[in-house]
Amino acid sequence: MKKITIAIDGFSSTGKSTIAKQLAKELGYIYVDTGAMYRAVSLYALREGFINPEDFNESDLVENLHNIDLKFKYNEALGFAEMYLNGENVEREIRTLEVSDYVSKVAAVPEVRYQLVKQQQKMGEDKGIVMDGRDIGTVVFPDAELKLFMTASPEKRAMRRYKELIDKGDKVAYEDVLRNVQNRDYIDSHREDSPLRQAEGAVAIDNSDMGLKEQFERILNLVNRTI
Ligand code: C5P
Repeated sequence: MKKITIAIDGFSSTGKSTIAKQLAKELGYIYVDTGAMYRAVSLYALREGFINPEDFNESDLVENLHNIDLKFKYNEALGFAEMYLNGENVEREIRTLEVSDYVSKVAAVPEVRYQLVKQQQKMGEDKGIVMDGRDIGTVVFPDAELKLFMTASPEKRAMRRYKELIDKGDKVAYEDVLRNVQNRDYIDSHREDSPLRQAEGAVAIDNSDMGLKEQFERILNLVNRTI
């Protein structure tokens, strides 16, 4: 069977990664969560003190980009790849609300995007890949055979993310999660470099009132029609 590239874009916490992981498993494809890469760069910037509530020293981050090594390593037990920053497993740390609060600022820096997009394009060279993010169908793989654009109401998305964080034991308030989701939506869709928008030819899926099973069946249908 012909291998294709599946590009999934959309707003924060629309369940892109859940669907993408499931799809990759079903098809025997590689799954790449590009948000994890932007999150890991943000964690690095936070640890190095390049970014804090008052200030963002972009030039220091850009000068140090060559010191950031990002790798995905497959975790057999979990069934997905985890993010490693300079050899350290940072999968848990990159998902905190603190990193979420900074990531969209870091992701708006053109040099950061340039470096990460290059790595993402390399990962997808041989097709057979499901990649999710904000610019996959528009910038990383504009020729992807199947493009999806996921949306849902901000309140539904914030509630999903809030429950995820609480389940992990993080002490967060729903209002802070909602504010973060809305802030990221705004920055991601208004930045100059690669703003989040529906790619040409992308199929829009609003999953505000759609269960996982229904979404998955619908998307699998689209895949089967494409292959
Ligand atoms: O997908 P996730 O919510 O983990 O992504 C975190 C952030 O990384 C997004 O809000 C966005 O600012 C940035 N991002 C991006 N381009 C991508 C993936 C993520 O700008 N392809």
